[in-house]
Amino acid sequence: MSDVLEHPEAPTTPEHVAIYRKDYLPPDWLVPEIALDFDLDPDRTHVRSRLTVKRNGEHDRPLRLAGNGLTPLVVRANGADADWRVGGDALVIELPGNEATIETEVDIAPAANSKLMGLYASGGLLCTQCESEGFRRITFHADRPDVLSRYRVRMSADKARFPILLANGNLVASGDGENGTHWADWEDPFPKPSYLFAMVAGDLSANRDRFTTMSGREVELNIWVREKDLPKTGHAMESLKAAMRWDEEVYGREYDLDLFNIVAVDDFNFGAMENKGLNIFNSRYILADEDTATDIDFDNIAGVVAHEYFHNWSGDRVTCRDWFQLSLKEGFTVFRDQSFSGDMGSKAVKRIEDVRLLRAAQFPEDAGPLAHSVRPESYIEITNFYTATVYNKGAELIRMMQTILGPEAFRKGSDLYFERHDGEAVTCEDFVRAMEDASGVDLSQFRLWYSQAGTPRVKAHVEHDASNATAILHLAQSIPDTPGQTGKSPMVLPLKTALIGADSGVPQGEEQLVLLTEGSASVRFEGVVEPPLLSINREFSAPVLLDVERRAGELERLAEVDPDPFARYEACQELMMRALLAGARGESADSTSVIAAMRGTLISNALDPAFKGEALSLPTEGLIGDRMELVDPDAIHSSRETLRSAIGAALADELGRAQSVSISGADLSPQAKGIRRLKSVALSLLAAGNPERGAALAKAQFDAADNMTDRQGAMMVLASMDGPEREAAFAAFFERYRDDSLVLDKWFALQAAAQHEDTVDVVEALAKHPDFTVRNPNRWRALVSNFAANQWAFHHASGRGYRFVTDMILEVDRINPQVAARQVPSIGRWRRFEPTRAKLMRAELERIVATPGLSKDVFEQASKSLA
Ligand code: PHE
Ligand code: ZN
Repeated sequence: MSDVLEHPEAPTTPEHVAIYRKDYLPPDWLVPEIALDFDLDPDRTHVRSRLTVKRNGEHDRPLRLAGNGLTPLVVRANGADADWRVGGDALVIELPGNEATIETEVDIAPAANSKLMGLYASGGLLCTQCESEGFRRITFHADRPDVLSRYRVRMSADKARFPILLANGNLVASGDGENGTHWADWEDPFPKPSYLFAMVAGDLSANRDRFTTMSGREVELNIWVREKDLPKTGHAMESLKAAMRWDEEVYGREYDLDLFNIVAVDDFNFGAMENKGLNIFNSRYILADEDTATDIDFDNIAGVVAHEYFHNWSGDRVTCRDWFQLSLKEGFTVFRDQSFSGDMGSKAVKRIEDVRLLRAAQFPEDAGPLAHSVRPESYIEITNFYTATVYNKGAELIRMMQTILGPEAFRKGSDLYFERHDGEAVTCEDFVRAMEDASGVDLSQFRLWYSQAGTPRVKAHVEHDASNATAILHLAQSIPDTPGQTGKSPMVLPLKTALIGADSGVPQGEEQLVLLTEGSASVRFEGVVEPPLLSINREFSAPVLLDVERRAGELERLAEVDPDPFARYEACQELMMRALLAGARGESADSTSVIAAMRGTLISNALDPAFKGEALSLPTEGLIGDRMELVDPDAIHSSRETLRSAIGAALADELGRAQSVSISGADLSPQAKGIRRLKSVALSLLAAGNPERGAALAKAQFDAADNMTDRQGAMMVLASMDGPEREAAFAAFFERYRDDSLVLDKWFALQAAAQHEDTVDVVEALAKHPDFTVRNPNRWRALVSNFAANQWAFHHASGRGYRFVTDMILEVDRINPQVAARQVPSIGRWRRFEPTRAKLMRAELERIVATPGLSKDVFEQASKSLA
């Protein structure tokens, strides 16, 4: 790949050292075989390991095995006492020959493992999480992704407490032992890196199913949950089978073991994990029925189940050489799950949702102190790089390659990639080269997308020459500086573009793929008779910020006639955004044209309800802030509320019609989901226009709801109001769902997301609620992350919101640094805010950094945010 620019010099301390991509060296020792033997017990699990090691190349360096929190009880080489020492976090063994068998024994305490990395206890289960560096908390091992081994695992445990014993691969033997124990032997025929190791023991029941692969092999599918949750696993199972079929049809990828297990656990740091043959999930991405899960929850389950399944090829069969290459598996796999979900429902709506997420999560990251390239150059703690940039921008890179190459050449490229690298640990460069070799397209300049951070900005305007029926599109790009990176080169920007006749509303010629590769360029369009409307970056073909010089009325007209649904959505949003920004700057904002465009969208017969729901959702306060020089949360809030109430009042009749439609909660078709989506968007606008009527309608929707989507939609509206309806709904909800932890998370989340002067008081009180706990990541995030995402409430001018979130970060950091570190960026973006708030935020970051015993996870995020 193209040369590295400068890399940000990471702030380090003696304990917190940075690791650089440029320092990569192949492993000194390979580990072709591993045999593990576990005596499982929550308080003391005994782990015996036997590694077959082979010197890799000519050198005389010792074998170094990583260990985290481990004390070696036994270390043997070739059956005899070995020459070993412990240095830092490593076990160092001097080996005379080129091959050896290394045996180690350790004791670990899963019940005391609050980091949820390695082997830990969750709701009576024992389970593992090894990505990225959790395996070293189980046993001594190189624990790097380019060391691949064949695993044999013996699990022994008390049979009554842990009747089910699962690990990767196939069950090869099992039986009863002494004293009420039993055992199981698992063997995984596919060599894999240690981060894909997994094991689960507990009292679980399975939803059992089967799948016949394209070559006719039978695969046994199991989704393991607590017995009472079995009725909530149907959607996950259907999603899994759909994903298996889709990967065969679209990528030609077939499942490769006879068994595929999924386990749901309640305590999990992220969404889910793609361990070979034994995916482990946060239960929120498995369990659903219409009474407890929203349509969005259902869609997320399908997306995450597919994502983890797709990793079997993009991640497990072909894995990453080192963690700087994380986007190799994550960007590609996100792209694959996005495409799958688009194919299962509405492509256009799925694209809108994905772009919304990219703008909400990735653009701010790219514009802030933690900006990094899709393939980072350095890290202190790799877990901090499981980011929207690596995942979602990474997915955009794959999408752009598909756009540039075309679907057939892209498929040839992915075939070549899988064929060439099956069983290997490779780099982003290997992926790009496979695409190049298969297509003959030179992607040299495209590689800059992997190394240059920051969202490219594109300026565009059109000059029309009516007499010659031509138009010239003028384009210019610039890439902003980011920490450690300045003076960047122009990138390849694939911009799907059409010119639409302003009078007729008809496209003037075909849509074109404009490839902007220079700093600036002019592109000529022929056959442009009418004054053109510029429809550019259709489908969001390039992840850029656009600044288009437009004639008066151009956006309004595009919002009405653009045949491309994504572009039409963009026009609606941009119209709203202009009004919202004007309002936030204190200019008198005229909302007539926005209202007219929204009315047109709402009453159109050509658009489906899901699309309408998206197009009519106002840009969030966060998004408005991203467009301002300095964010002023109060001005943004009042501008947005003013526009919302104007729309709600002006379109009361049309919105009322959309809100009053009811559809059975059991109907989960895309059509039904769209109707419910529009219903709640309409309710929210109606309530803004007429709070009294809104409260009554919301309470009625809440009472009548036969599904969680309508119920939660009503509560979202009530949450930001005062009065008896709100109290009654929240009390009823709590009573009904107090024993269902995933639903109780919603109860916390809805209150944390409420738009009230006193939301900070409410969340402070909720943090003392008996059902609140910092030990469960879902519960902690329900309260803290949702509050921090509530711009107006979190950025309360008093600074109390910052203090609350900081206190919560520091509290959870003592037990679970990964959860803590992921929340730091909400305070870290202090430079973007008006001076009073910026100062308060900065002070909290300083308080964090000054805290003794801080984890390196939080240290990295906070110190980089101050730098
Ligand atoms: N690899 C997981 C995924 O994206 C995410 C993950 C990372 C889960 C680290 C747990 C720990 O599918
Ligand atoms: Zn993933």
